[in-house]
Amino acid sequence: MSAHSIDGKALAEELRASFKARVAALAARGHRPGLAVLLVGEDPASQVYVRNKVAACEAAGIFSQKLVYPADVEQGVVLAKIGELNADPHIHGILVQLPLPRHVDEKAVLEAIAPQKDVDGFHAENVGALAQGQPRFIPCTPYGVMKMFEANGVDLTGKDAVIIGRSNIVGKPMALLLINAGATVTVCHSKTRDLAAHTRRADILVAAVGKPRFVTADMVKPGAVVIDVGINRLPPEEGGKLCGDVDFAAVREVASLITPVPGGVGPMTITMLLANTIEAAEREAGQ
Ligand code: GUN
Repeated sequence: MSAHSIDGKALAEELRASFKARVAALAARGHRPGLAVLLVGEDPASQVYVRNKVAACEAAGIFSQKLVYPADVEQGVVLAKIGELNADPHIHGILVQLPLPRHVDEKAVLEAIAPQKDVDGFHAENVGALAQGQPRFIPCTPYGVMKMFEANGVDLTGKDAVIIGRSNIVGKPMALLLINAGATVTVCHSKTRDLAAHTRRADILVAAVGKPRFVTADMVKPGAVVIDVGINRLPPEEGGKLCGDVDFAAVREVASLITPVPGGVGPMTITMLLANTIEAAEREAGQ
């Protein structure tokens, strides 16, 4: 039996349509939501992500400011700009696109963002709030995945969830969200012994590895829900197309629900960034 493929694009569009009234209500009261996006360097993938984030803001009626710095910018310049944005009443959300060049201290940059404007949910205060089960800003990608579970009636209580990947952006916050939702969570990573023994037990399998078609059908429990967070560009000799961390064609024959790449988790990430920005503006406006 072939798994149902979750249409992330359709769900993202549905959610974005529901944001319109919230943005209009804020704008009518003089609180149009605003997002600042900082990009340091010329990483092509980051350039695409930032362009898409700014375009999504525009389409949603959210004010956006894109700030681009050369790869060799001094850290102090970035920190000073964040200080300015923290004090700017037109800006409700601040996002620094990751990864940063090696000479820039990522932690120092993320901690400089005012927690109430940290729409990525990467500030230690927001990570702590999530860990304590009282989230204020949830990191966008795992937040989008939780919305996909909700929209597809996936009950997480008591389920065995396995995450492959322990990044601060996806793996760790995903684990906290699943724990908070009542799942029994295992986080696997590059040092995990016998990965397949873990993944084969998973009712819910989240792949955030960054390796094309890493998860094969023999690693998946029949009937599992498989979430593919990977966005990998195949080499030109393989067509140069986007491809996830999951061997979609083979795994869909084993799973019950699966997300495609593209058109799965990807569109949800930016949608939840818009959600967090609107929420930040609503809090600021005292709504
Ligand atoms: N780089 C990859 N994913 C993300 C994300 O969700 N936020 C930021 N700021 N950078 C990223």
